Amino acid sequence: MADKIIYPIFDKMLSREDKEQLLHQRGVMIWMTGLSGSGKSTVAIGIERELHRRGILCRILDGDNIRAGINSNLGFSAEDRKENIRRIAEIGKLFVDTGIVTIACFVSPTTELREMARQIIGEKDFREVYIATPIEECERRDVKGLYARARRGEVKDFTGISAPFEAPTHPDLSLDTSQMTLKQEVEAVVELVCASN
Ligand code: ADX
Repeated sequence: MADKIIYPIFDKMLSREDKEQLLHQRGVMIWMTGLSGSGKSTVAIGIERELHRRGILCRILDGDNIRAGINSNLGFSAEDRKENIRRIAEIGKLFVDTGIVTIACFVSPTTELREMARQIIGEKDFREVYIATPIEECERRDVKGLYARARRGEVKDFTGISAPFEAPTHPDLSLDTSQMTLKQEVEAVVELVCASN
């Protein structure tokens, strides 16, 4: 194996504080967890628009820009989900360390996966937002037709049907999109972000 030498350039690079001063904001990770079709991406888009309007730079990480690209070699086995979340957390940390409000929208179905993400990103920069829409509502929406396919056995290891989903026990925020308006959901998360900024 080739020698793996990592040169210590960190003391020469500008710091996170330098970036945050430039942007006049603080980096934070808003980690959204919830079933497929629960509304994670819709809420994230609403948050991004509202924060952008207020002059805060954001970055959304979701399945479309991650599973189609850097994680295109990963499926939905427990092992692949773990690698999916590990890479997302590492990438997310780079954004947070650049002072950017980062919003991750991934099912991240188990406590173990979310705790791994929290460890990588760091407790003080990590906010857990549970999109707590009941499975009946997610299945009724079935935006991508995946619940119907999972019920027919055409999609295996489908979260909530044939693979586990463990609800977070102490999220910073819990939002049931079948009970709230998008505006209310966005306001609640924006408040959480502004409390960190
Ligand atoms: S995670 O479990 O590894 O966090 P991730 O959020 O990246 O999952 O991807 C979930 C999305 O992939 C779902 O919203 C759904 O559109 C799609 N998907 C395809 N197959 C599955 C499956 N077996 N289980 C869950 N989601 C799936």
